[in-house]
Amino acid sequence: MAGVSEPKALYRSALKYLAAGEIERGVALLRQSVPKDDDFVEAHNAWARAVMPGSDYIEILRFLHEELRPQSYIEIGVEFGTTLRLVGSETQALGVDPAPQIDGELADNIVLYEQKSDDFFAENDLKSIFNDPFDLAFIDGLHIFEQVLRDFINLEKFSSVDSLVLIHDCLPLDSRTAARTRTTQFWSGDVWKIVPCLKHERPDLKLVTIPAYPTGLCLISGLDSESRLLEKNYTEIVERYIAIDYDAIQDKGDYFSLVANDWQLIQETILPIRDNT
Ligand SMILES: C[S@@+](CC[C@H](N)C(=O)[O-])C[C@H]1O[C@@H](n2cnc3c(N)ncnc32)[C@H](O)[C@@H]1O
Repeated sequence: MAGVSEPKALYRSALKYLAAGEIERGVALLRQSVPKDDDFVEAHNAWARAVMPGSDYIEILRFLHEELRPQSYIEIGVEFGTTLRLVGSETQALGVDPAPQIDGELADNIVLYEQKSDDFFAENDLKSIFNDPFDLAFIDGLHIFEQVLRDFINLEKFSSVDSLVLIHDCLPLDSRTAARTRTTQFWSGDVWKIVPCLKHERPDLKLVTIPAYPTGLCLISGLDSESRLLEKNYTEIVERYIAIDYDAIQDKGDYFSLVANDWQLIQETILPIRDNT
C-alpha cells in the first residue's frame, strides 16, 4: 500500500515546494515520483512546467505567426489542429498528417493532406503549391530522429534564405521520455538528435532551441535549398546520431544551443524577419 501511494505523496510534496519557489527541490521530488516501470504523466507535466517556465510552444508559434505573417506555412503532424489553426487569414497553410483528428471545419486558407510526410513529398511539389519557397514550416510528425531528418531534408529543398523551420520536441526531460521506444504518455522521442546532427553536419545553418513547455522548440534559419549534404550522407548520419546516449550529454545549454524563453530576445536575434507588410 505504501508503495502505491508513494509516487502521489512525492508528487504532492513536490507541488508544495514548487509553489514555494523551491524549484530544484520540487523537480528532484517529481523525478523521484515517477516509477521506473510505470507512467505518471501528471508528474512529467509538472516537471516540464517547472524547468520550462515562460511561453509554451503554442504561444511561441502564435507570436511567430503574428510577427512574421508568413505568406506560406506547412505543418507536418497536425493531430487536433491546435497549431495549424494559429495561422492568420493572409497565410496559405498546408497540414500533412496520415491520421488527423480535427473537429469541425478548417478555414479556407488551410488545406490538409491526409498522408505520411514521406508520401506527401514524394507525390507533391511544394513549390508549385505555394508558387514560392515556403516562409514558415513546423515539424511535429513522427517522433523519431530519422523521420525528422527526412522531413527537414525534404523541406529545405523548398526553402529560401528567408525561410524558418521549427522543430518540436527538441529538449527532452530525461532519457526515458527521450527514447525511441515510447513507454510514457509524456514523450518527445529521439527527435532531439536533430540538434547535434544539424549543428555538426550543417554548421552553415543558424539554430537555437527555446526551452518552451513541454519539450522545447528548435528554430532553424539560414537554409540552403541547394545543399544535398544531409541527403548524400543520410545513412551514415542516421547510424551516427541514433547511437547518441542522452545521459552522456554534459552541458545541455551548449548542446542544445538553448536561448532564453524571451520573446524580445527571440525577435531581436533569431528571426529572419521577412517584411510582408
Ligand atoms: C504531436 S501530434 C501534432 C500536434 C500538432 N502539431 C499541435 O501541436 O497541435 C503528432 C501528429 O503526427 C502525426 N504523424 C505521425 N506520423 C506521421 C508522418 N509520418 N507524417 C506526418 N504526420 C505524422 C500523427 O498522426 C499525429 O497526429
